Amino acid sequence: TRAVRLALLGCGTVGAEVVRLLHEQATDLAARIGAPLEIAGIAVRRLGRDRGPLPVDPSLFTTDALSLVKRDDVDVVVEVVGGIEPARTWLVEALRAGKSVVTANKALLAEDGGTLHDAALDGGADLYYEAAVAGAIPLLRPLRESLHGDTITRVTGIVNGTTNFILSAMDATGAGFAEALDEATELGYAEADPTADVEGFDAAAKAAILASLAFHSRVGAADVYREGITEVTAADVASAKAMGCTIKLLCIAARGLDSTGTESVSVRVHPAMIPLSHPLASVGDAFNAVFVEAEAAGQLMFYGRGAGGSPTASAVLGDVVAVARNRLAGVRAASESAYAALPVRPIGEA
Ligand code: HSE
Repeated sequence: TRAVRLALLGCGTVGAEVVRLLHEQATDLAARIGAPLEIAGIAVRRLGRDRGPLPVDPSLFTTDALSLVKRDDVDVVVEVVGGIEPARTWLVEALRAGKSVVTANKALLAEDGGTLHDAALDGGADLYYEAAVAGAIPLLRPLRESLHGDTITRVTGIVNGTTNFILSAMDATGAGFAEALDEATELGYAEADPTADVEGFDAAAKAAILASLAFHSRVGAADVYREGITEVTAADVASAKAMGCTIKLLCIAARGLDSTGTESVSVRVHPAMIPLSHPLASVGDAFNAVFVEAEAAGQLMFYGRGAGGSPTASAVLGDVVAVARNRLAGVRAASESAYAALPVRPIGEA
C-alpha cells in the first residue's frame, strides 16, 4: 500500500508534538490505518527558528504553505497555525483540491466555519477538528456521530482552562481576580496577553463550534452572548460559597422557543453560579468538562485536559487516523448538509 502523505502547517508546541508522536508511534499507526503515514512537508513562518531536536528531515521545512497544500503528493493537510488568514485560504484551497483537512483552528471555525464546510462539500473532502474544542477530550466526534440518532437539548461546558484555573484559585484561597491571574501567569496557564481567555472570546469561539454541531446549525462567534470573568470579585465568590455554590465561566447552548414561538438555538458564555452538587462544580484546576443533555441519552459528561501540546496533539492524531482510513477506503465522512437546520436566536433574545 502506498503511504498517506501529510502536509503539516505550523510547527509550534502542538505541531512539534504531532511530529514527535507520528515518529514514535509510526509502526502502531501504520498497523491501525493499514498504510504508513509520511510527512510530505512542514510549512512554517521562519525557517531558522530553533525548534529543538525533531525527528524529521530538515529539507521538509518550507515557508510556502500554499504550494505545499496543493501538491499532488499531499493527501491530508494538518493545520495548527491558528488565526483567520492565511489559514482560511490554505484550507479552502486544500479542501477544494480534495485533500482531507484536520485543523485545531477554533477562531477560524467559529468565524467562518460555513466556508470551510462548503469547500469540503465542493471538494468531496473530509474536514475534522476535534482539537479545536476542549483539547484531548473526545467531544466533537460524539456530537457529530455517536449522538446523531438523538436530539440534543442543551450543552453546558467549562471550555477554557485558564479561566477555570483562575476561578478555582479564587474559590480555594479567597484571592481576588488580579492575584489569581498573576498566579495563573506565573504557572504558565495564562498567556502573556490573557485577553482572549479572561474576556471569554476563546470560550465563545468554542461555544459556537459546539452549538453548530449539537444543533445542526450555523452558529458563529458573533452570535454568542459573551461576558468574561474580569469583573468577578472575591466577594462574589464568597457569597456564592455561602449559598452552596461556586462560580464557573460556562458556555451554555440550548434549543428552545424564542419570543415569536420559533424553535431556535441560543448560545452564551458568562460567569455563572452553580450548586456544588452539579458535576461541573468539581471540575477544578485547568481542566475542561462538557455536560450534554439529550432526549434519549439523558445526561452525559465529557471531562479531561483542554489545552497543552500533548493533549491537543492526541486529538489531532486521532483525526489524522480517521481521515487516513477514509481515504484508503475511498469514502468521506457523512456530509454536514444538515448544517443550518435550526436558526440561531439573536443576542439579547436569550
Ligand atoms: N487558552 C485556552 C484555554 C487554550 O485556556 O483553555 C486551549 O484552547
